[in-house]
Amino acid sequence: MLVAGNWKMFKGPGETLAFCRALRAVPRPADVDVVVCPPYVSLAEAVQVLAGTEVGVFAQNCHWADDGAFTGEVSASMLLELGVYGTIVGHSERRQLFGETDEAVGRRARAALDAGLDVIACVGETEAERDAGETEAVLRRQVSALEHDDNLVIAYEPVWAIGTGRTATPEMAQEAHEIVKSVLDVPLLYGGSVKPENARELLAQPAVDGALVGGASLDLPSFEAICRAGSRS
Ligand code: 13P
Repeated sequence: MLVAGNWKMFKGPGETLAFCRALRAVPRPADVDVVVCPPYVSLAEAVQVLAGTEVGVFAQNCHWADDGAFTGEVSASMLLELGVYGTIVGHSERRQLFGETDEAVGRRARAALDAGLDVIACVGETEAERDAGETEAVLRRQVSALEHDDNLVIAYEPVWAIGTGRTATPEMAQEAHEIVKSVLDVPLLYGGSVKPENARELLAQPAVDGALVGGASLDLPSFEAICRAGSRS
């Protein structure tokens, strides 16, 4: 079971230090892998404070080139130099607001994995796509842009459930996860308004191997509660 907190554009270095110091001090269930994904500017602080713990520090994106004229981008080798363990790629906010294509997401994932980072690649349909009955086709297309790798995890995040307080029902999550797993058999996280109140039921679905948590990961007690909900013990 993996519980990852995607902080998005929240928590600068100061807040990151305070959060990670507090996170370090709390007991975590042994059967849940915990990951935090701070913004680039806060990665060094997170790596430093969480060194020697089992908590992984991931970036939120990663470019496919090793270096070059790519203003605003960061490469896998730079993240590795910092002590970062992995990266998210293909988040729906990147796809929707910053024009990332399936092809770009595939390239980012491949380069990060080849460089030695773990990858959480995000997929998910919009509300209009779900209403039009296109969920399966969208998921198949997005997942097909990725290649199997032992260090690849996919996060199914229905766009209509992100930051809206609406979650997929456990059955919807299970159904989407079965589609994803039929294309690429890798561990799968559910994301989209995961909260302490709904985490246990979502994480109990057989095809759900963890959660990618946005808003509720910014508050330590709620993040901890979701981590505990992932424990089978
Ligand atoms: P929320 O948990 O805030 O809905 O965000 C989900 C998400 O986008 C995680 O990557």
